Parts: sequence; structure tokens; C-alpha cells
Amino acid sequence: MGPFPITLTRHILQAQAAYPGATGEFSALMAQIGLAGKMIASDLRRAGLINILGYTGDTNVQGEAVKKLDEIANEIFVKVFQHSGLVCALASEEMEKPVKLEENWPKGKYMLLYDPLDGSSNTDVNMPLGTIFSVLRFEGKGGLPSDAELVRVGTEQVAAGYLMYGSSTMLVYTAGHGAHGFTLDPGVGEYLLSHEHIRMPAKGKVYATNEGNYHKWPAGTQRYVDYLKTQDSDGERPYSGRYSGCLAADVHRILLGGGVYLYPAETDKPEGKLRLLYEANPLAMVVEQAGGRASTGVEPILSIKPKAVHQRVPLVIGSREDVEIAEGFIQGHRTS
Ligand code: AHG
Ligand code: MN
Ligand code: MN
Repeated sequence: MGPFPITLTRHILQAQAAYPGATGEFSALMAQIGLAGKMIASDLRRAGLINILGYTGDTNVQGEAVKKLDEIANEIFVKVFQHSGLVCALASEEMEKPVKLEENWPKGKYMLLYDPLDGSSNTDVNMPLGTIFSVLRFEGKGGLPSDAELVRVGTEQVAAGYLMYGSSTMLVYTAGHGAHGFTLDPGVGEYLLSHEHIRMPAKGKVYATNEGNYHKWPAGTQRYVDYLKTQDSDGERPYSGRYSGCLAADVHRILLGGGVYLYPAETDKPEGKLRLLYEANPLAMVVEQAGGRASTGVEPILSIKPKAVHQRVPLVIGSREDVEIAEGFIQGHRTS
């Protein structure tokens, strides 16, 4: 037998041993996120057999058609955190207004914002999917949190991460002390540490973007992607294009191998597509903890003062040098 595996719970408890005030609630919270992930993964694995593919017929608050699995994944998170004693508010891509969990007040110290199923166009074609989550602290004074208390700058996240349902199910999280990856061992039903202290290469050779939108992009963004595709003399370019349509999966590839993901501003849609509080902020925290960088092209994602739960934001995320070069093009400081 090789070295004894480190489970998610043990990893968090060991990290928390350094903090005398830690109560174990954070490790319980992460275990519950892991449980929701196992339940979603279990549904995804059988989705084609149990009539849960396709659309519900409804549209969500963002005006997007809701897949049955979007709703199922959202419901799993709500059920897992009801009566958990851990979280007193939940905000999700699939819920117009945050849900307050009265039964968890005042004990529940945390608030959770999440994208229950990321990349849901992939459900019907057996491609990767994800769940993205952001954890905020709630001080518990003066009753349940207001909606405004959930709308916080990314530097206030106490933890963040994502699940990725690919050829294996992985959970990657940070609590501000590095980014760590766990692979679900289906045999024992536990997340086991497989990628400790992930460090991103400072520069990569992969870019991920929906290039079908090229003609909607401002000139600086177009020039940047043209640049990535242009051959240079030292073999650093052209970059390889890789795009799955699942942000969590595309960022996961870049987190491990380096490169850049962009869902940029469009000329007629300067706010971009992705959501700040439960897509960009948590992934930015993970990537920065691994030595990478995340910005709108103009300002760091984690310094944006948000105004609304479902606010959108342009996103350029990945290896530090790649994101800096992208910013140069987007801001017009460089053209080649
Ligand atoms: P969601 O399924 O949660 O709405 O997220 C979809 C996002 C993201 O995962 C992906 O990178 C992007 O939208 C894909 O958009 P395009 O189809 O425009 O490329
Ligand atoms: Mn998403
Ligand atoms: Mn989603």
C-alpha cells in the first residue's frame, strides 16, 4: 500500500489546527459542498437514463433557458444546506433572490453564493460540467443577512472553489492558503487529495475563448487573439485553442497547465456574459492563490465593488504573464 490518502475533511482539519479559534464549522461546510457535488455527479452520470436531460421550459433571471439539471443541481444545494446550521443565506444563478435560511440563524456563520451547474449546454452531449462556489462570512448580528450583505467585493471571500464533473469528479478549493485539488474516489466515496498547492505556470500555450464572437469584440481583444495565433520565431506562439463551453473545466485546464481563458466584453455588451459573484470572483480567488491573475482586462476582478447579485463582468483569467499581455492589448498599450 502506498501512502495513506488524505481526505478533504482531514486536509481542512489539519490546516485549521494552526488556528486556535477554529470550530470545525468550515470543514463541515466544505464537507456539505462535497456532498452536494457527489449528488450532482451521481445524477449527471445517469442523466441520459432517467429523463433529466433537456429544458424545463422556463427562463431564469438572466433570461437564459433553464435545463432540468440546472434546477436539480440548484435544489440539491438548497436541500443540503437547509437545517445544516452552517449557512444562513444562499444566492444562486438559478434563484432570482437570495434564500435566507432562518433555521440556521444565528448559528450559521457563512453565506454561500454558487453557480449550481456551470456549462449546462454540455448536459445533453456528455461533456464536462461544473459547480462554482464562493463562501462569505456572516457576522450574525441583527438578524438574517440582507440581500445587500451578500454583494461583497471578492477580497472578502473566505473560501472559494469549484467542482468539475469530467472523466473524474474533482473539487478544487482555496481558503486563502493555496489552492488544493481533490479527486473523488468513487470506490470509497471520498474526495482524496490529488493536487496539493497547485502552482500555475507563469505563462502557458493554451487559450480558451468562444471565438465565434470575434466580430462582436472590441479591436484590442481581436488583436490579442490574432497575436496568440500568429507564429513567432522563438516557438512560443501560436497558442493552442481549447474551449469546452464549461468555464470551470476550461479554467481547470489552465490552472493545471497554464494559459488564458477569456470571456471578454463585447462592443454592444460591455458587461460581458459571466457573473461576478458566483463565477468570476471564486475562480479569481483560486487562480490567484495558485499564482495566476484575473481581471476584466482593465481592473482586477477581486477589487470590483459589486452592486447586484447577478451582475456580469468581462473575464480574462489564467497565467500571470498571459493575463498581463491580454490587458496590454485590451487597454490599447500594445498592438502586436
Ligand atoms: P452557465 O451554464 O452556468 O450559464 O455558464 C455558461 C458559461 C460558462 O460556463 C461558459 O464558459 C460560457 O458560458 C459559454 O458561453 P458561450 O456558449 O457563449 O461560449
Ligand atoms: Mn456558469
Ligand atoms: Mn449555471
